[in-house]
Amino acid sequence: MTAKIIDGRKIAKQIRKKVSEKREVLELKYNVKPNITTINIGSDPASELYMKLRDNACKEVGINSSHLEFSENISEQEILKEIKTLNKDNTVHGILIQYPVPEHITPDKLMNAVTPSKDVEGFNPYNMGQTLIGDEHLIPCTPLSVLTILEHEKTNLRGKHAVIVNHSNIVGKPLTGLFLNRNATVSVCHVFTDDIKKYTTRADILVTAAGIPKLITKNHVKKDAFVIDVGIVKTKDGICGDVDFNLVSEIAGKITPVPGGVGPVTVASSLINMLITYENTIQE
Ligand SMILES: NC(=O)c1ccc[n+]([C@@H]2O[C@H](COP(=O)([O-])OP(=O)(O)OC[C@H]3O[C@@H](n4cnc5c(N)ncnc54)[C@H](OP(=O)(O)O)[C@@H]3O)[C@@H](O)[C@H]2O)c1
Repeated sequence: MTAKIIDGRKIAKQIRKKVSEKREVLELKYNVKPNITTINIGSDPASELYMKLRDNACKEVGINSSHLEFSENISEQEILKEIKTLNKDNTVHGILIQYPVPEHITPDKLMNAVTPSKDVEGFNPYNMGQTLIGDEHLIPCTPLSVLTILEHEKTNLRGKHAVIVNHSNIVGKPLTGLFLNRNATVSVCHVFTDDIKKYTTRADILVTAAGIPKLITKNHVKKDAFVIDVGIVKTKDGICGDVDFNLVSEIAGKITPVPGGVGPVTVASSLINMLITYENTIQE
């Protein structure tokens, strides 16, 4: 028996349809088109691709998306000043920072600077805190996409053992909070975890986001587990995730592919957050 392969593109399409319908209703109500700005520093090729994908998605659902492009030599102070200006600008209904940023700029300072109500990515410590205490409002887009996939598959997290291989601020930490909010038992693995297999083989739901091809093999997975591969790695053979897809598919109950799994749902999830920041800003 091979695993059910989750079609992230199909889920993303359904989300875009719902966002488009909701955007139409809100735009009629407020008589203003949603307008989102992305700050991009430097010229990272992966960032260019993400922004293009997000722009296309925005266009499809009727959200205006513009970029502010800065040289990689811009100072942290100057970027913080730009964020302050966007925070105060009533015509901007949501702000995104495109990561990675150059090394002389501290990502945490930028996350802190985006006013919580316009924080499309949900990275501001206020929004992160809300997520953690279970008052979920603006959930970081990648963890939101993992939840969306689980909900799409009608997976009830209560009492399940969820294992997350990643403890970053943008994936593992917020996802841990979201899973605990839904009464899962959560194990979080990272580079200092002694023998991740000890944990992953006991996972009902395994989410991996290490960025290491084939980190998760057949021997890491419990029979019928739901395996969600967040990793994106560019190799000479193309884009792949953390999971040895063909072999793990023989064991898992459900599995997300890379590409075509979490990635498209993450882009679509950012649209959901854009409508939230739009409403926040209009109502302020
Ligand atoms: N699909 C999407 O929409 C999406 C969105 C965001 C990110 N991503 C992808 O997800 C991956 C992670 O992104 P990120 O920004 O969270 O990266 P990150 O900050 O580098 O996090 C990687 C995490 O994996 C852990 N890790 C690395 N090697 C490990 C190993 N051998 N065993 C166990 N844990 C290990 C790291 O632990 P330490 O911190 O202890 O080193 C860290 O917690 C990347 O491939 C990225 O491209 C995908």
